[in-house]
Amino acid sequence: MTARQKTWTDVILTGDLERGDVTYVKLGSRHLAVYDAPDGIHVSAALCTHNGANLCDGYFDGHIIECPLHQGCFDIRTGTPKGAPVTRALKIFETRVSDGVVQVLA
Ligand code: FES
Repeated sequence: MTARQKTWTDVILTGDLERGDVTYVKLGSRHLAVYDAPDGIHVSAALCTHNGANLCDGYFDGHIIECPLHQGCFDIRTGTPKGAPVTRALKIFETRVSDGVVQVLA
């Protein structure tokens, strides 16, 4: 069995993003969080690695998303956990903007 080739997939128009905040997008079976950060657009899995809360309901500040359920934090540039109780990294998607559309390699 061969691995499926990743391709650039449309996620959301940049004009539909919450400015300076995080926007939830359901893409097929994936739950994505799209961040309008100071250095550009980042995309991660939307569900917290601790207990599955939707991070898009949390508090976003710069490059840190705080989970709404137990206040665990992640760096949205790397997925690195930044505070208890989260210990597992968040999945980060390679992201680009093409003709006003946010795309991820998925
Ligand atoms: S579900 Fe996110 S910190 Fe617990």
